[in-house]
Amino acid sequence: MMNISQQLINHGIHPYGSAEVLKFEKHLAQYFGREYKRWQGNKNPVESYGLNSFQGDISKSETRPESLSHYNEEYHVYRAFLDKDYLAYTMGCFGVDPFGPELKNIALEQAQMSKYKLLVERANIQDGQSIIDLGCGFGGLSKYLLETYPDIKITAINPSDVQTDHIRNELINPDNNFDNSRFRLIQAYFDDVDSLGIELESFDRVISIGFLEHVTNIDLLQKKLSQLLKPGGLCMHHCIVSVDVLPAFLNSEDTLMGGYYPGAHIWPLSEPQRHNTHLTFKNSWFINGMNYWKTLDEWHKRFWESIDQIYPEYLTIEEVENWNKYFSLCKAMFIPNNGKSYGNGHFLYKK
Ligand SMILES: C[S@@+](CC[C@H](N)C(=O)[O-])C[C@H]1O[C@@H](n2cnc3c(N)ncnc32)[C@H](O)[C@@H]1O
Repeated sequence: MMNISQQLINHGIHPYGSAEVLKFEKHLAQYFGREYKRWQGNKNPVESYGLNSFQGDISKSETRPESLSHYNEEYHVYRAFLDKDYLAYTMGCFGVDPFGPELKNIALEQAQMSKYKLLVERANIQDGQSIIDLGCGFGGLSKYLLETYPDIKITAINPSDVQTDHIRNELINPDNNFDNSRFRLIQAYFDDVDSLGIELESFDRVISIGFLEHVTNIDLLQKKLSQLLKPGGLCMHHCIVSVDVLPAFLNSEDTLMGGYYPGAHIWPLSEPQRHNTHLTFKNSWFINGMNYWKTLDEWHKRFWESIDQIYPEYLTIEEVENWNKYFSLCKAMFIPNNGKSYGNGHFLYKK
């Protein structure tokens, strides 16, 4: 009988690392490299390209359900390619001192834990604090903090059914070794924060990882977060950024990413720090894009290593093709210029 990979190749879908896929990624990367070069040094305000991070809803209401559908895709697929410990759906830290293009030879699981450790250090998270994990995904950061700090309290917010089901099944599980009274899951869009019954001025820290890409009105977001933080509290956003202002990337619908994340934005590194009113901007850091490239490459590899467990049971041929292209496309965005043009940003604010 023909094996699964051969069946997919016969449909024109080529596996991770094949000559066809490598060629495709190379051409895409050349295209993105040219775009980054074309806009190198561009510091025009995003308003000059029709986007305003001081206006509108926190996230675009018209694309919210469609955007969320990406996070509600088949659970077994995410399980197949994400790291086993945290199911983190954002970059892991593979970089050698201090997160430059040179990468360590470590497991994805370890790289995800390194990201959490870095955030803990930069946001000065301490045991006993009350923390919001905003846009918590499958709950990786919450899990790390609950396991690491015996007295930490977490409120995790996420509208996704698939991801919150995982949290209910695995994290809020009586067999777990941490005290569940320290963890609260709110299944909702943060946009609805006023009706969620979250106590004002009761949090020491807000951490968002991979959430700011979904936010259009950063000003309104910061206003709402400042109402939740205690005086002196800190907020840290971790998100994908471009170093220069890349007009086509400001609205995902202008690129192929719109098919996966409608309504999303890739902010230039300079944008979040313009928001210095409701919370005081303290610091920002750029994390080299090779960290995300390596994470995506690992996901892509694991996806194909598990292909016979997910196809045809959970994915159609078209869906396999869609995921395969997704990994290649994302990798090609991070790799040009050795990760120095497109990577991740950390943005720290204080109330
Ligand atoms: C890229 S994932 C990152 C998840 C997680 N933080 C991680 O690192 O694995 C983005 C997360 O933000 C959530 N999200 C998107 N829009 C949101 C909104 N308006 N309010 C709250 N969460 C949102 C998604 O459901 C998803 O869990």
